[in-house]
Amino acid sequence: MKASAKTRRLVITIDGPAGAGKSTTARALATKLGYIYLDTGALYRAVAWKAKVSETNYSDSIAIQNLLQQMDLHVTLEDDTTRTIVDSQDVTAYLRDPEVTRVASTVAAMPEVRDWLLPVQQRFGQTGGIVAEGRDMGTRVFPDADVKFFLKADLDTRTTRRYQESRQAGHGGNQEDIRNQIHDRDTRDQSRDIAPLVPAADAVVIDSSSLTVDEVVATMLESISARL
Ligand code: DC
Repeated sequence: MKASAKTRRLVITIDGPAGAGKSTTARALATKLGYIYLDTGALYRAVAWKAKVSETNYSDSIAIQNLLQQMDLHVTLEDDTTRTIVDSQDVTAYLRDPEVTRVASTVAAMPEVRDWLLPVQQRFGQTGGIVAEGRDMGTRVFPDADVKFFLKADLDTRTTRRYQESRQAGHGGNQEDIRNQIHDRDTRDQSRDIAPLVPAADAVVIDSSSLTVDEVVATMLESISARL
């Protein structure tokens, strides 16, 4: 199903916990529809990366506010990659670093960070034709999105997926550590006061634990086709 001139260019959101398969399915869906793909986790990771390299105390919200004031963040959407440029440096390759990953969920709980990133994300939705992936796409960033998905999977499945990704990327870590990290990150993302990870009331919830990527994408396309 390729988008044609006659079809509407929708805003599609995919939220869910780490390892549920959001990035893979969002990319595949965007490619099928001829839409852009926005990975909003990369933006929180960019703030975390800057906190790390500038040795900012990332638990100190005043220090993080100062950091944001001096931070120049640009995002370009190229093919299926969200390229993240901080202070003129392309930092995309550094954003999956385990420490950046950990710090990202701490800074993501800060209202200042979320408010600062809100317009950056919303700008990409203005003309439609986007698959946006994150934790609060359907609830806060694009509350009027045309189709909203919440992708979940059980903790064991998500651990196995992340372990395999981590090995392929050449990072260390054993399954037990990865399981604990995912669990801690989920707890932080779900329990924060601002924009916690919850399905939007009108989201289609899909459990990907025993589905292939193609099956998840096919399920999503069924919901989407009615809206095109
Ligand atoms: O999706 P990810 O693992 O790259 O996200 C990194 C962190 O950023 C994760 O802890 C949750 C947070 N995040 C968020 O709070 N809101 C988003 N829209 C995207 C990510």
